Amino acid sequence: MNDGRVAIVTGGNRGLGLEVCRQLASQNYRVVLTSRDEAKGAAAVQALASDGLEVLYHGLDVRDDSNIARAVGFVLSALGSIDVVVNNAGIHLDEPVDGRRNALVTSDETLLHSVDVNTFGAYRMCRRVLPIMENGGYGRIVNVSSGAGQLWDMDDEYPAYQISKTAMNAVTRVFAAASHDCVKVNSVCPGWVKTDMGGPNARLEISEGVQTIVWLATAGADAPNGAFYRDNKTIDW
Ligand SMILES: NC(=O)c1ccc[n+]([C@@H]2O[C@H](COP(=O)([O-])OP(=O)(O)OC[C@H]3O[C@@H](n4cnc5c(N)ncnc54)[C@H](OP(=O)(O)O)[C@@H]3O)[C@@H](O)[C@H]2O)c1
Repeated sequence: MNDGRVAIVTGGNRGLGLEVCRQLASQNYRVVLTSRDEAKGAAAVQALASDGLEVLYHGLDVRDDSNIARAVGFVLSALGSIDVVVNNAGIHLDEPVDGRRNALVTSDETLLHSVDVNTFGAYRMCRRVLPIMENGGYGRIVNVSSGAGQLWDMDDEYPAYQISKTAMNAVTRVFAAASHDCVKVNSVCPGWVKTDMGGPNARLEISEGVQTIVWLATAGADAPNGAFYRDNKTIDW
C-alpha cells in the first residue's frame, strides 16, 4: 500500500482527470481533486463520495500562478505533504478557419491560450511542487501529454495543440533533469479516449485511458524519470 500518500490532480472534474482521482482514491491515496470551476468540482467530489470515495477539493486554474500557490498551500496545511501531481488539465482549441485547419491559419490567440494551459500550466505546477517533493524525499509527477506532440510524427492538423504538447514534453524533460533520485517526472499519452475532448468514436474507455497515468503516478522506486509512455511502454518524443 502507499501509506496514504497525497495526490493532486488538475482538471479533475471530468474525463481522464476524474477517473485518475477515482482510481488513486481507490488505492488509498489522499486525493485532492482540483478544477477551475468550483460547481463542477463539487459535483465531481459528490459523485466520488456516492461511490464511497472521499476526496478533498480545491479550486485551481492552471493559468494562474497565485491560484496554484493557494491550492498547494491548502494541500500542505490540510494533508502535510504532496507526493503525486497529475498535470491533466488540458484544452484542444484548433478549429477550422474558412474550412482549413493548419499551421497557416492558426491564430495567435489559439496558440497562446493552448500553450498557457497545456504547457505553462504543467510548468507552473512542477515549479511549485518539485522543491516540496524533494524536501519530502518522494515525488511522482505525471504530465498528461499526447501522441499529437510527438516530433517524429508531426503533421499540421492541430498546430496549437501539437505545439503545446511537444512543449509539455520539454517541461517533463527539464524537470526530470532538475529532480533528484526521489522525484520522477514523466509524460504519458493516454491514447485516444472517449471523453469530451476525445469524442464518442475514440478507441478507449476512460478507465483504459488512465491506466498508464495511474501506473506512473503510483510507480515504486524503480520508476522511470524523464520518459514518454503509452500503454506502459516508452514511445518516441
Ligand atoms: N481524450 C483523448 O483522446 C486524449 C488524448 C491525448 C491526450 N489527452 C489529454 O488528456 C488530458 C485530459 O483530457 P480529457 O480527454 O479528459 O479532456 P476533457 O474531458 O476535455 O477534460 C479536460 C479537463 O481540463 C480542464 N481544464 C481546462 N482548462 C483548464 C484550466 N485552465 N485550469 C484547470 N483545468 C482546466 C477541464 O475543466 P473544465 O470542465 O472547466 O473545462 C477538464 O476538467 C488533457 O491534457 C488532454 O490533452 C486526451
